[in-house]
Amino acid sequence: MIRVENLSAFYGKAQALRDVSLHVDEGETIAIVGANGAGKSTLLDSIMGLVRNTGSITMDGQDITGRKPADMVRMGIGYAPERFNLFPHMTVRDNLLVGAYTARDEIEKNMAAVHRLFPRLAEREGQETSTQSGGERQMVSLGRALMTNPRVLLVDEPTIGLAPKVCVEIAEVLKRLSAERGLTVIVTEQNTNFALSLASRLYVLEGGHVTAEGTADELSKDDQLAKSYFGA
Ligand SMILES: Nc1ncnc2c1ncn2[C@@H]1O[C@H](COP(=O)(O)OP(=O)(O)O)[C@@H](O)[C@H]1O
Ligand SMILES: [Mg+2]
Repeated sequence: MIRVENLSAFYGKAQALRDVSLHVDEGETIAIVGANGAGKSTLLDSIMGLVRNTGSITMDGQDITGRKPADMVRMGIGYAPERFNLFPHMTVRDNLLVGAYTARDEIEKNMAAVHRLFPRLAEREGQETSTQSGGERQMVSLGRALMTNPRVLLVDEPTIGLAPKVCVEIAEVLKRLSAERGLTVIVTEQNTNFALSLASRLYVLEGGHVTAEGTADELSKDDQLAKSYFGA
C-alpha cells in the first residue's frame, strides 16, 4: 500500500536518513525499531512531507513524493507524532477536533468512533489535556490522528514513558484497529517487545539506515541482533 524507496532525509546539510527502503501492505502492521537518534521520527516526518527528503514514496502505486502534509492527510494517512503535540490548555474534545480539519463533514461520526475506541476520552471530554496522565494523552494523540478516518496510521513511539499496563492497552487498541477496520499501521518503537506483539514484520534502523528486516522469527535467528534488540 505504501512503498518507500531510497529515502534520504536532511536537516540543512546534515543527513538523518540514508537510502531507506520499506513497504507496508494493506491491513498490515509493521514496526521500525531503533535506538534514540536512529531516525525513527525523521522517517515518519519524511513520509508526511515534514522534512526535506529525496527518494520516492508511493501509495497504492501512485507517486506521492514531495506532497504537502495536508495532502498526505487527505490521501488517507493519519499521524500520531512523538511527544503528542497536544494543546495542553485545550480540552480533550477540542484537541480531537483539531485533527478533523480536513474531514469536517464527518466530525460527529469520527468522534463517535474515537469514543467507542477510547471510552475514557468520552468520559473526560471537557478535561484539559495538561491534567491527564501520559496514557490518556497518548489516547488523545491516537484519537486525533483517527479523526480523519485514515487508511494508514503512522504512530511514533506510542509507549514512550508509559507504564507496562498502559502499553498493553495501547497495543490492544492498535490490534483492534487492524482487525476491525483493516487499518494499515507503521509504528516506530524502542520498546522491541511492544513492536513484536503487534507487527508482522520489523525493520531495524541504525544511524539513519535500515540494517535488518524480516519477521520476528527471521530477525531472532541473528544472534547479534537478538542480543541488541530482542533481549535474548
Ligand atoms: N530538527 C532537527 N534538526 C537537526 N537535526 C535533527 C532534527 N531532528 C532530528 N535531528 C537529527 O536527526 C537524527 C535522527 O533523529 P530522530 O529522527 O529524532 O531519531 P529518533 O526518532 O529515532 O530518536 C539525529 O541525529 C537527530 O539529532
Ligand atoms: Mg523520535
